[in-house]
Amino acid sequence: MALKITVIGTGYLGATHAAAMAELGFEVLGLDVVPEKIEMLSAGRVPMYEPGLEELLRRHVAGFEGSTGRLRFTTSYEEAGEFGDIHFICVNTPQKHGEYACDMSYVDAAVDSLAPHLTRPVLVVGKSTVPVGSAARLAARLAELAPVGVDAELAWNPEFLREGFAVQDTLHPDRIVVGVTSERAEKLLRTVYGTPLAEGSPFVVTDYPTAELVKTAANSFLATKISFINAMAEVCEAAGGDVVKLAEAIGYDERIGKKFLRAGIGFGGGCLPKDIRAFMARAGELGADQALTFLREVDSINMRRRGHMVELARNAVGGSFLGKRVAVLGATFKPDSDDVRDSPALNVAGQIHLQGAQVTVFDPKGMDNARALFPTLAYAPSALEAARGAHAVLHLTEWAEFRELDPAALGEAVAERRILDGRNALDPERWREAGWTYRALGRPTA
Ligand code: UDX
Repeated sequence: MALKITVIGTGYLGATHAAAMAELGFEVLGLDVVPEKIEMLSAGRVPMYEPGLEELLRRHVAGFEGSTGRLRFTTSYEEAGEFGDIHFICVNTPQKHGEYACDMSYVDAAVDSLAPHLTRPVLVVGKSTVPVGSAARLAARLAELAPVGVDAELAWNPEFLREGFAVQDTLHPDRIVVGVTSERAEKLLRTVYGTPLAEGSPFVVTDYPTAELVKTAANSFLATKISFINAMAEVCEAAGGDVVKLAEAIGYDERIGKKFLRAGIGFGGGCLPKDIRAFMARAGELGADQALTFLREVDSINMRRRGHMVELARNAVGGSFLGKRVAVLGATFKPDSDDVRDSPALNVAGQIHLQGAQVTVFDPKGMDNARALFPTLAYAPSALEAARGAHAVLHLTEWAEFRELDPAALGEAVAERRILDGRNALDPERWREAGWTYRALGRPTA
C-alpha cells in the first residue's frame, strides 16, 4: 500500500513540502490550525509569494482543474491522525518576545494535538528548526500520549530551503539529513526521499542531536560568513578599500568560495537572526556558551550595518533628516520574497522616519506586509513614484528590477540625484554617468 503523508503547518516550509510530496506521487494531507490558510490553499492559492509554488500546488490540489487530486488540506488533527503513515511537523519556531530562545509552543502543540489520534504504527518527522535536545523530549512525549505508544516513532529531518527558492531547494536538496533511532525509521525516510528527489543528493543518517545541530550550525556558518564580509566592509571604509573587490578576490580561493560574501546592510528574515540567537541561548543552557560567544559578535556586526546605513544617508543629505524626503527601494528581507520579518530594509526605513525624514517605500512584492508592520511609512506604487522629490534614494533590497531602473528617468523625478546602495548590487558607473552621486557601504566614494 502506498504511503500516505500529512504535513502539519502550511507556512513556507509546510506548504512547499506538502506540494513537493504530492509531486513525488504521494497522497498528501496538509494541516493548519488557521482556517483561512486552509481555504486559500484548497482553492489553489498560496498565502505568501514564493516563485513556482502556486503552479506546483495547482498541479495537485484536489478539485482543481487538471490536477492529480493527490493534495488536500484540513484543520482536523483527527483526520490527519487517521490519514497519515508519516506525519511531517513543519510549524515555525519564532524568537520568544524579549528573549534569545525560540518559542517551541507551536511544535509542542502540534505533537500534543496529533498524538492522541495515533492508533497504529506511524513515523512522526520533525522538520522545524529546534533547540538541540528537543527531538528526544518530543519522542518521549509522543510515546506517552499516543494510544499506540512507542510505535508512534519520531525522526528529525531538518530542512534547508531558502525563501525565493523553496520549490527548487525542496525538490533538489543539497543533502538530506535524518536523525533516527531505528532502522525502520531510516528505511521509511529512504522510501519517502527515494528517487527522483534524492537522486544525487547525499543522504546523511545520524542521531537526534546531530540532526538538530546540523541545521543551526549551517545557519550560524552562513550568518558568520555575511558578518565577516560586513566586518571587512567596516575596515574597507576606514582604510579606503573596496569590499566588493575584496570579496571577489578572496572568493576565488575555493576553500572560501564566492557565495554569501555580499556585503551590505546585513542579514534578516525569519531564520538566520533568530536561529543564531536561539543557538546561543541553548548553548548557554547546556553549559557550552563559551563555544558560541563569536555569534554574539556576528549578531552585533549585523545590527551595526543597519545603523551605519542610516548614518551614511543622514550625512549624505547634510547631517539631518529634518525636512528631507527619502525614497526606499525594497522592503523585504531579500528579493523574490514578500517576507518582511526582521527586514534590514524596513528597519533602516523606520529609523530614518523616526529621525524626521519623510520616507516613501516601494517594493515589488512586499508592500502589503510592509504596510501592516510599518503603517506610519508612506508607500508608492512604483520606484519612480517613490523617488519623486527625494533628496536621497536608498537601495535596500536587491530586486532584479531595481538593477534595470533607468537612472536618467529616475533623475528627472528626484530633488537631488543621490543614490545609496545598501546591497552593493547596482552598477555604480551607470548611475554616475547619469549624473548621480553613488555611495555604497564598504566602497570608496568615487
Ligand atoms: C536561510 C538559509 O539560507 C536556509 O538554508 C535556511 O533553511 C533558512 O535560512 P533564507 O532566510 O531564506 O534562508 O535567506 P538567505 O538567502 O539565506 O538570506 C538571508 C539574509 O542574508 C537575507 O537578508 C540576505 O539579504 C542576507 N545576505 C545573504 C547577505 O546580506 N549577504 C549575502 O551574501 C547573502
